[in-house]
Amino acid sequence: MTYVNLDVSHQIMLKKNAEFIVQQGKGILAADESPSSIIKRFNSIGIENTAEQRRIYRQLLFTAPDIQQYISGIIMHEETFNQSNDSSISFPMMLTQIGILPGIKLDRGLESLTINTNETTTLGFDDLEKRCEDFFNRGARFAKWRCVLRINKLKNQPTEVAILNNAIILARYASICQTKGLVPIVEPEVIPDGDHDINICQRVTEKVLATTFKALSDYDVYLEGCLLKPNMVTPGQEAKKKVKSTDIALATITALNRTCPPALAGIVFLSGGQSEEDATINLNELNKTFYQSKRPWPLTFSYGRALQASALKAWSGKRENESNAQQNFLKRAMANAAASKGEYDEKYTNDEAKKNLYVVGHNY
Ligand code: 13P
Repeated sequence: MTYVNLDVSHQIMLKKNAEFIVQQGKGILAADESPSSIIKRFNSIGIENTAEQRRIYRQLLFTAPDIQQYISGIIMHEETFNQSNDSSISFPMMLTQIGILPGIKLDRGLESLTINTNETTTLGFDDLEKRCEDFFNRGARFAKWRCVLRINKLKNQPTEVAILNNAIILARYASICQTKGLVPIVEPEVIPDGDHDINICQRVTEKVLATTFKALSDYDVYLEGCLLKPNMVTPGQEAKKKVKSTDIALATITALNRTCPPALAGIVFLSGGQSEEDATINLNELNKTFYQSKRPWPLTFSYGRALQASALKAWSGKRENESNAQQNFLKRAMANAAASKGEYDEKYTNDEAKKNLYVVGHNY
């Protein structure tokens, strides 16, 4: 069967690029923090939040030696997409030249879904088709759109309205991306705010994913040329009972197996405030041999905080620290690349990597 609006050459390109991103032993660097959301991180190390500082910081990450051995795609905010390196080569062009696919964050942040609720929908449909076309022509090959679902047992949240609204939004965005040649990353993030246990997170994640895939089907999204970016199934950050990485892996695989079609090209997790080390250990657990036989898609990383935290700290806004910061970033990239094959060895960790990176109501 053919897909509405998608000719065969488009399907081939989308599938090829989606498979390139989730190729064995590689994953995504999510470097798409908006100028207003990176401010917290810059503040934490006393750096002024200017466009030039953000450019220097992104350049540092993107030019880390041999980054392409571990990173297959980088998601950028529009501002970064329009910036260039010190030699005036645009970042998308520079990344393409070293064999990394440039990606673009297309959503424009969150807005209240209804009056008197903290549930949200995501903005960004204004001239979306035109923006997709424009970014594709300037080198983007994939895109990201983040929706947020909150767990609140007392208020029965996420409500069905929130789950349905966000699923439809993600499906509409994905179908527009594909008609313009961009692989859509569909990100329905169940955020870890709250004291709920892992079972509640699993149940909510399953409902959210099942509804999202129904909507993707309704909108004729071509799953072979599409990636899912889910949360791992964990207890809330304020939960009293902590769990082991084996519990997280089992709950996450169970939720994914119950809801995600085998045709999907791949799954790229967000780190969601886990420490750098936890995000690596949990991904590693998910890729150990036991689970490999139990699921049909590649599972890898699309981390923001868990790839950048120790690099950002080492940098602290100083040119003389750049090489040290790059080494810290490469350590995490290498660790997660190994984890995406189930081959990470925990003996390479350090105390900095164990620090919790959770931020209440995290925005991107
Ligand atoms: P974290 O890995 O910091 O959760 O962010 C990934 C991301 O892209 C969220 O949209």
